Amino acid sequence: MKQTLSINMAMSIDGKVARPDGRWYGLTSEADKRQMDNYRSKSDAIIIGKNSIINDNPRIKLKFVENAINPRPIILIRRGTLTPDKKIFEESDHIPLVICCKANKKEIEENLKNRVEIHALDSDDIDPKKVLGILSRLGYERILLEGGPKLNYAFLKQGLVNRIHITLVPFLIGMKTLPAIADGDTDLPDFDKKKWKLVSSIQEESEVFLTYENIE
Ligand SMILES: NC(=O)c1ccc[n+]([C@@H]2O[C@H](COP(=O)([O-])OP(=O)(O)OC[C@H]3O[C@@H](n4cnc5c(N)ncnc54)[C@H](OP(=O)(O)O)[C@@H]3O)[C@@H](O)[C@H]2O)c1
Repeated sequence: MKQTLSINMAMSIDGKVARPDGRWYGLTSEADKRQMDNYRSKSDAIIIGKNSIINDNPRIKLKFVENAINPRPIILIRRGTLTPDKKIFEESDHIPLVICCKANKKEIEENLKNRVEIHALDSDDIDPKKVLGILSRLGYERILLEGGPKLNYAFLKQGLVNRIHITLVPFLIGMKTLPAIADGDTDLPDFDKKKWKLVSSIQEESEVFLTYENIE
């Protein structure tokens, strides 16, 4: 089976994925949480960046899908570390895998001893292609990327994303500096040539669940 990478993000009507305080909470319904669990239950591994864990402290364990195996959390930490009090370290069926750089390996080992497995790259940055290579060697084929937006951008820029799930939530936030689902300094290569096909659109009250697939 070919490895597939799917982004999953919720977005306001005006395209924002974070509140003015830089976090994301309280803007989605239970229907979105159910849909999120549905996507997670069909994934072997779920990638999350350090910032999103610090800001949102997300719960990874499936709540709404019975008898499903939780996807393994894959945490990308380029610099520094995380504290062990985060929900992601408490609730998983699996021991999370941290992918980091050579410079912060020791710090992570000291802070997250016995809580995570660590894979340190021999570099100062985390190359998204290498991340998928590591996951492929571990046998993980269905990968969910739950951001945040900087991480989404890094994977999109290398053309590694096959599918995008977007939940459109009925709020307008308005502040121009807030990120969209992909947050980077330059435009994505060939953004006007690569087409995304809408393969599913489900409305539940005032939320819309959209799924786009890369058709190149
Ligand atoms: N609406 C939604 O569905 C949703 C979903 C997720 C997040 N969010 C929100 O979006 C906010 C902003 O997120 P953000 O963009 O700052 O967070 P982000 O994408 O989580 O930031 C990137 C994080 O990933 C790490 N990273 C590792 N390798 C990387 C690479 N190659 N390129 C980029 N980053 C890499 C960075 O580590 P270092 O810091 O160590 O460099 C950084 O902590 C979050 O706080 C959250 O509230 C919203």
